[in-house]
Amino acid sequence: MERICIVGAGSWGTALGILLAKSGHSVTIWSIMNEEVEMLNQHREHIDKLPGITLPDNIMVTNNLEEGMSQTGIVVMAVPSKFVRNTAKLVKQYIQPGQIIVNVAKGLEEETLLTLAEVIEEEMPNNPVTVLSGPSHAEEVAKNIPTTCVVGARSKQVAEKIQDTFMSKTFRVYTSPDIRGIELGGALKNVIALAAGISDGLKFGDNTKAALMTRGIAEISRLGLAMGASIHTFGGLSGVGDLIVTCTSMHSRNRRAGILIGSGYTLEEAISEVKMVVEGVNTANAAYKLAQKYNIEMPIIEQVSKVLFENKNPKEAVEDLMLRDKTKEHKEYEMDFNKIINWEEE
Ligand SMILES: NC(=O)c1ccc[n+]([C@@H]2O[C@H](COP(=O)([O-])OP(=O)(O)OC[C@H]3O[C@@H](n4cnc5c(N)ncnc54)[C@H](O)[C@@H]3O)[C@@H](O)[C@H]2O)c1
Repeated sequence: MERICIVGAGSWGTALGILLAKSGHSVTIWSIMNEEVEMLNQHREHIDKLPGITLPDNIMVTNNLEEGMSQTGIVVMAVPSKFVRNTAKLVKQYIQPGQIIVNVAKGLEEETLLTLAEVIEEEMPNNPVTVLSGPSHAEEVAKNIPTTCVVGARSKQVAEKIQDTFMSKTFRVYTSPDIRGIELGGALKNVIALAAGISDGLKFGDNTKAALMTRGIAEISRLGLAMGASIHTFGGLSGVGDLIVTCTSMHSRNRRAGILIGSGYTLEEAISEVKMVVEGVNTANAAYKLAQKYNIEMPIIEQVSKVLFENKNPKEAVEDLMLRDKTKEHKEYEMDFNKIINWEEE
């Protein structure tokens, strides 16, 4: 049994708390928002975000971070990406040697273009920072619907400790050393989900969505490789796995925002209608800058950025994607294809 502090009591922090408590761990959930702490303590349910799901008795909810983190072995960072840096600064005040940090937020820091584990590592360089990611909607995890994720860590021992802690009959966890790849997959799929939503809002079909998902993962992989990640990560749970769930599910706020934009809403109207953080919007901006920094072709991400930030008509954006210069499907991996037939030798 572990003692775990979950930092952030939104949908994901609460769902993970429920999952871990049901496995017999002792869980404290901390929130910066006093009303949220009161609501969770009074109703033992997150009425706004996970209605109808009761918190097990072995979950304590507090607004006192020092108390929440004391004597815990694992600290789970479960706040939306834009709050990660400031929350890490708070956590840093009470962190103890050996406490393992698990980042579950998905995004990039807009100003620095760092991944979120990198942001946390900058703030707390002496503690092991791991990431847990994959196709995992909170609404389903909280209801014990079978789910799989991957934990990324620098040390195998630490990865296996987090795997053992989170693993349950309904939550299967794999391990990987590719922290950066896992984070890029989890963050960038939100931009592709916006594109998939826009396509749905424009009343395009399944063909279009499959194209966006497949060419989307090609873009993500290209950037990931340039940034030192493994290509295999993008064919895994935090790559294609998370992309599929985000682009096809109505639980996805990024896809929902995209549908609204494709139906004619402005970005501001779409965000206020979804009523929750639409992380893909900030990530689109950061991803576009990363593409330029690493000189990587990312046409879908470029067009999404133009629709979001330059008011480009979504229909025109799709037309521009369709009419780009013609190319080979896997031009960056030409060497592999030359092993089948080398066209240049014909
Ligand atoms: N919801 C999911 O299904 C899911 C699944 C996997 C990963 N994630 C990732 O987990 C992260 C959290 O997502 P979520 O769905 O729980 O978001 P959410 O919008 O439900 O969570 C918001 C919570 O963050 C906390 N918060 C609000 N303002 C804050 C502030 N200024 N400082 C610190 N904390 C603050 C509060 O507890 C609030 O309830 C995101 O990065 C998301 O991408 C979510």
